[in-house]
Amino acid sequence: MNQQEAQQHLQSLREEIHRYNYEYHTLDAPSVSDYEYDKKMRELLDLEAEYPQLVTPDSPSQRVGAEPLSAFQKVRHNVAMLSLGNSFDEQELRDFDRRVREGTGEEVTYVCELKIDGLAVSLTYEDGVFVRGATRGDGTTGEDITVNLRTIKTIPLRLHQPETLEVRGEAFMPKEAFLKMNEAREEKGEEPFANPRNAAAGSLRQLDPKIAAKRNLDIFLYGVGEWQGESSSSHSERLERMQHLGLKTNPEWKKCGTIEEVIEYVHGWVERRPDLDYEIDGIVIKVDRLDQQEALGFTAKNPRWATAYKFPAEEAVTRLNDIELSVGRTGVVTPTAILNPVKVAGTTVQRASLHNEDLIRERDIRIGDTVVIKKAGDIIPEVVRVITEQRSGEEEAYSMPEHCPECNSKLVRLEEEVALRCINPNCQAQLREGLIHFVSRNAMDIEGLGEKVIAQLFKENLIATIADLYKLQREELLQLERMGQKSVDNLLKAIEDSKDNSLEKLLFGLGIRYVGTKAAQTLAQEFETMDELSKAGVETLMQVPEIGEKMADSIARYFAKPQVLELLEDLKQSGINMEYKGPKKNQGPDNSPFKGKTIVLTGKMEQFTRSEAKNIVQELGGKVTGSISKNTDLLIAGEDAGSKYDKAEKLGVEIWNEEEFANALT
Ligand code: IVH
Repeated sequence: MNQQEAQQHLQSLREEIHRYNYEYHTLDAPSVSDYEYDKKMRELLDLEAEYPQLVTPDSPSQRVGAEPLSAFQKVRHNVAMLSLGNSFDEQELRDFDRRVREGTGEEVTYVCELKIDGLAVSLTYEDGVFVRGATRGDGTTGEDITVNLRTIKTIPLRLHQPETLEVRGEAFMPKEAFLKMNEAREEKGEEPFANPRNAAAGSLRQLDPKIAAKRNLDIFLYGVGEWQGESSSSHSERLERMQHLGLKTNPEWKKCGTIEEVIEYVHGWVERRPDLDYEIDGIVIKVDRLDQQEALGFTAKNPRWATAYKFPAEEAVTRLNDIELSVGRTGVVTPTAILNPVKVAGTTVQRASLHNEDLIRERDIRIGDTVVIKKAGDIIPEVVRVITEQRSGEEEAYSMPEHCPECNSKLVRLEEEVALRCINPNCQAQLREGLIHFVSRNAMDIEGLGEKVIAQLFKENLIATIADLYKLQREELLQLERMGQKSVDNLLKAIEDSKDNSLEKLLFGLGIRYVGTKAAQTLAQEFETMDELSKAGVETLMQVPEIGEKMADSIARYFAKPQVLELLEDLKQSGINMEYKGPKKNQGPDNSPFKGKTIVLTGKMEQFTRSEAKNIVQELGGKVTGSISKNTDLLIAGEDAGSKYDKAEKLGVEIWNEEEFANALT
């Protein structure tokens, strides 16, 4: 690979990882497994190591996690919460061992632990009393989730002795609690969580601790941030002392004298992993002696004295019996593999999405093939590859139909898309899926309207559009299967209640392309009424921070459709609220030096991280953008400010240093 190719490859890796980060941290809805993510990240790190001159400050390699959400109080970690370097095979474990022994110049003992798949948290005890719990956040600054952590019954509110310390561990949701919760959610027509980790993270990020309290979370503590008057000299001693204080540690840890023993431990757990009540995604290997840990120290991001061995995703072999098609709410036609039932990672799998025609072709998947299945993120089944050696010659190649399986109109492939789409706006399947989306939790949140009921409503012709939902009659509903008096009453009340939702829920529910929950919130806050928003053109929309051209274009096109205006009028007639009810846009206090200003941040500051500075400016009503232009009002420049500084000078933009920034805050 030459430098130019490397540059291009780096660029695409970064974009991919940025997207995965966003899906994982912000949306709690990852599209790839951790294993795949870690591999991509590794690829990026390796390539950057080879071409250090190509490392950019915004590369995902340059930060440890996502920025904390603003809804909770920020907590600064006195000792940074780092993450671990990964090992993917035995060779990498042996390499780790060699580096450790060379680094210490001594023999070492390791402690092996299960790598719990949950959310890293820090617990602070003062004189034995639990005073604060926080998420890891970006490693330096996390969020104060004390109230939610207090709901975890295995977190002691008082230790057995009046120690002052900060311990770290993993909060998680046991498998069974996860399955039960998802069942209940699906019954209610709510979106299930993708995996226990997201469920745990989602629960701990709730502003209302009553929700976390209902979620049956648990914790294992595995490390120490700070410990006043600590007397341990090894990690294993720490684990024992922690346990004696009443802190819950995982009982499966083991001391290993050699790397061979470590490898044996790892293999043992690959086998026994499905038997555990909670999910693990690997094994953590730590140097036991604290003086040796100290001698080894840290790289920029990881301790040199520990590594995480990541399990490969679990796979299984089965026969692909058929390919079925389904039409989504945006008209995309998705093929699904129908499989001979097979157990993978603890559950029976019978279906796996094939995503699109290209994938079927690339993997040369045929009906009747013997295929390898794995679970992405350990939960979503996927066909990884075909075992071609097992072909008999009877297998049938598959090609996608030319017509919509639901309404028979001709399918199209839009430019630059891999998906085939049905573009008939009256396609039943699209309307049905659109309604499922409309009533979902983040949209209008209508409880009791699950997929089955919606399918029935369509089948019985009781409903054709979203607006018809608000015209349903009691008698009609009572005719449906499994709908008694009580459920009908509850459903009608839920429908009625949804009329009062704030604008963003309706906006998200309409299913405008590219408009997710976050954009819906931003738009609602910015325009305040549906009327204002529907009148805004592309230019006006693009003035809103976070709304790019693609989204602006899609919104403007949506509101230009006559049938959309008709639908909105119809909804209005039914009494659906079209106004924003949430907190007003942050204008900042009147005396704020940043109010209404467009501000760029650059360089390193001593007292603030970049995200802290950004939050401060935004809270004071300033708008933070990424690059200097003639519209920039102010550049706040820390140390080592580069090209932005020069550009600001050239354009005559006002420039402040850190001190001036700090002074403006007092
Ligand atoms: S030790 C200095 N031990 O895995 C690093 N981590 O990247 C301290 N995890 O963020 C981490 N089980 O959330 C450690 N037994 C265990 C763990 C564990 C799960 C998580 C933790 C950390 C990530 C490693």
